[in-house]
Amino acid sequence: MTPTIDHLVPEHVRHFEAYIPSKPDDVLMKMAGCTRLFRLNNNENPLGPPSAARTIIDGFPSPRAAIYPSGDAYHLRHRLADGFGLHPDQFLVGNGANEVIGFVIKAFCQEGDNIVTADKTFAVYEWVAAFSGIDARLVPLTDFTFDDAAMLAAIDQRTKILFVCNPNNPTGTYWSEARLRKFLDDVAGRQIVVVDEAYCEFVEKEDFPDGLRLIEEYPNLVVFRTFSKMYGLAGLRIGYLAGAPAVVDIIRRTCVVYSVNGLAQEAALRALDDEAHVRATRALVRETKTMLTREFQRLGLPHVAGEGNFIMLRLPMSDSLAYRRLMTRGVMVRSMTGFRFPNWIRITIGLPDAMTALVDALHEVLNHAA
Ligand SMILES: Cc1ncc(COP(=O)(O)O)c(C=O)c1O
Repeated sequence: MTPTIDHLVPEHVRHFEAYIPSKPDDVLMKMAGCTRLFRLNNNENPLGPPSAARTIIDGFPSPRAAIYPSGDAYHLRHRLADGFGLHPDQFLVGNGANEVIGFVIKAFCQEGDNIVTADKTFAVYEWVAAFSGIDARLVPLTDFTFDDAAMLAAIDQRTKILFVCNPNNPTGTYWSEARLRKFLDDVAGRQIVVVDEAYCEFVEKEDFPDGLRLIEEYPNLVVFRTFSKMYGLAGLRIGYLAGAPAVVDIIRRTCVVYSVNGLAQEAALRALDDEAHVRATRALVRETKTMLTREFQRLGLPHVAGEGNFIMLRLPMSDSLAYRRLMTRGVMVRSMTGFRFPNWIRITIGLPDAMTALVDALHEVLNHAA
């Protein structure tokens, strides 16, 4: 008889359900019976990477693939430090912002500790905590927005980290600088406050805070950023965190060295220089959101179009059914039951052909339902 491994598995891992990633496009298209697929499920930038980053990617010399990259993204950290007026040692670069979530939780939490975040936000904070045996306290959103007072009330002696997604994925709501400052003042350095700014480059509102500029004043603040969204490098997997030297010194101990490949480091470094790319992406997102919200109003569908390159839409049917029906029409969206928003879908802003396909497919799916 094969011996069981159950006794080797910690309780919190035994009860954790693994995330199932979507299948590759060719497999999905075969399953859905469609001949082309618009992926509007991952908030990628349809304009791709900035042109200077493209040049690096296109010209990557193959012998470099045999060589280990800089283990701590040396040049990128120096470039970030120059750009944001911080010291290179205040940055830790990871294999996407996803990886740095794990670094922070491992650095500060042990059995019996908890983290506090929202119930309807980017789920990876909650997941990493759960499979690390750390309790995740989930505070309901108020008006689709992180509830600062309720988060503060959820803190206890064992709370180590508060995660705030600004602007929030999937609702696009944000805390102004005044509101974030008030929250940080109330926390008063007793916990680590992570502000995940994965979508900050899309925000055009004047009162939106730049977390990196608040680090000097609030040494318990840790800011996440990514090259996956605005900078179109999701496929290369690169993101980073920044914080006060003493905090980053602790987090560095839990970093996996060499997790960020050399091509990603170099492409990211070049991506930062391209202001025209940011302007073009913002214009595309702004104009497309206006067009889509008009369309959704015409269809009488409730929607939330905040900051970021995505819109949430409420449908008069289950989101998983809508997902399947849209898939057969070559449009992939994010069904939102997993975000605790049943009957809602999240749509990434895409190029005009993708948006036309989406709107046509929605009309058909709604007519079908009627
Ligand atoms: C709010 C938020 N944070 C972090 C990430 C992770 O980004 P990365 O691709 O850098 O791992 C995402 C990706 O969707 C996100 O939406």
